[in-house]
Amino acid sequence: MADLVQFWKAPEDPLDCLYLATAEGRNPLESLVLPGTALKSIGHAVSELGVRGLDGEVLVTASPSREFRRVACFGIGKAEDFTVHSLRKFLRWVLEQAGRNREYQIAVALPVAPRDVDPEEARTVELAELALADYRFDRFRSRPDESTKVDGVHVVPLKGEDEKGLRIRLERARRVDTLVRLARDWGNRPGNDLTPERFAEEASAMFAGSPVRATVMGRKELEKDGLRGIVAVGQGSVQEPRMVKLEYRAKKPRASVVLAGKGVTFDAGGISLKPAAEMAEMKHDMAGAAAVVAAMRAVAEDEPPLKVVGLVPLVENLPSGTAVKPGDILTMSNGTTVEVDNTDAEGRLILADALAYSARFHPDIVVDLATLTGACKIALGSEMAGLFANDDSLAQQLERLGHRTGERVWRMPLLPEYRDLLRSEWADIKNSAGKWGSLPASAAFLERFVPDKVRWAHLDIAGVAYVQRSRNGLRPGATGFGVRLLMALLDEVAEKA
Ligand code: BES
Ligand code: MN
Ligand code: ZN
Repeated sequence: MADLVQFWKAPEDPLDCLYLATAEGRNPLESLVLPGTALKSIGHAVSELGVRGLDGEVLVTASPSREFRRVACFGIGKAEDFTVHSLRKFLRWVLEQAGRNREYQIAVALPVAPRDVDPEEARTVELAELALADYRFDRFRSRPDESTKVDGVHVVPLKGEDEKGLRIRLERARRVDTLVRLARDWGNRPGNDLTPERFAEEASAMFAGSPVRATVMGRKELEKDGLRGIVAVGQGSVQEPRMVKLEYRAKKPRASVVLAGKGVTFDAGGISLKPAAEMAEMKHDMAGAAAVVAAMRAVAEDEPPLKVVGLVPLVENLPSGTAVKPGDILTMSNGTTVEVDNTDAEGRLILADALAYSARFHPDIVVDLATLTGACKIALGSEMAGLFANDDSLAQQLERLGHRTGERVWRMPLLPEYRDLLRSEWADIKNSAGKWGSLPASAAFLERFVPDKVRWAHLDIAGVAYVQRSRNGLRPGATGFGVRLLMALLDEVAEKA
């Protein structure tokens, strides 16, 4: 990652380039803080260039001021249409362009705030996206391209911004950056590299010496505690299942929160095998788990006045002679019997265990994240996560925080009627409902395992956790969705509880 630094005065050596976002009909320099001479000469150059700010317009000139070698203007269209997605597109372009041009020290000016996030948080969102803009996953490249890495990104301050305010925002952006990268890396790592065992090891090692206590449960312990869903899904693979427990408790906790994340390190579908096309993508089926572990890292650093427990069930879902079969019936830890109608509906089986298990921590709030259904991806695409909740205020809070962090969620119905879809001939319920209503049915399934009187929210991140092609300014691969939302939720619960 490039260093993010504040740009208040001219450095000794000129920076390689000033990247300026320009909106239609606006003077891009109006809201920037730049040394007086630079402001004047660059303003002149920009108008000489004929910058109009049209979407995608790129104009570059030698810089007339001594602070920079060049000035590059990138048109972002109408300021009213500027969104987090256009922001990412701009920032990614900046980092790629700078890399190609061998510019190692650059300045970035963002005079326009994305209109789809909370105005108060827009600057932090911008800076976090700036930090993340050069994210790449090159762990498996034998020759990662180091030559095109920008070393320093100098942030041009905005009017009304002071050094302290910007410093705090930059610190927050760096932290978000570190945790989102962590979650993205896990999501991008293939199944042979990131097995349940390896994930459990890495996730728990991360908390050594921290106030979060990490415990890893193996197959025997899972069996002993009756976590049948995790054991059943894991039994088709030679890679044994795990559950990671991450427990944090403040001296006088104001509330108890459990975060649960689906951790399927690879989902072939099991005996109900998935089609070959796009199966490779199922290496990211642990994105929910990754977000939970990353959020627990934030807890370890912040030590909020809460009790927070992360529950991360980890399995590999493969077909084999020992795999769970369609028609098999499982007796879950809360006594519910489940007919495994489709072994590809494995996420809800392992999450059911985690949800039921959460009762031990007497939670006030339980939030789970899971790449649970293709149907959610069909419904909402990669723009918003699906949200189900048994509590209106928790749902509204998550919707609001979605707008604040840029990780937006759309509420879906948790109607009792959908429970009918899970009726089984042979057991209390079955794990799949077929095609129609399969999204709300998945939530209706989970709901059965939520402890009584708990405020619960389920986030289906199947559409948002991974992008196949470059989209919304993201490179193909894992997005780290959920990390920011969970961090914001915990911050707010700690403040308000
Ligand atoms: N991991 C998949 C869901 C998924 C699909 C995530 C596409 C990300 C992108 C999940 O385990 C699954 O296979 N769900 C099935 C459920 C069905 C069998 C009831 C689905 O959605 O098809
Ligand atoms: Mn599946
Ligand atoms: Zn899955």
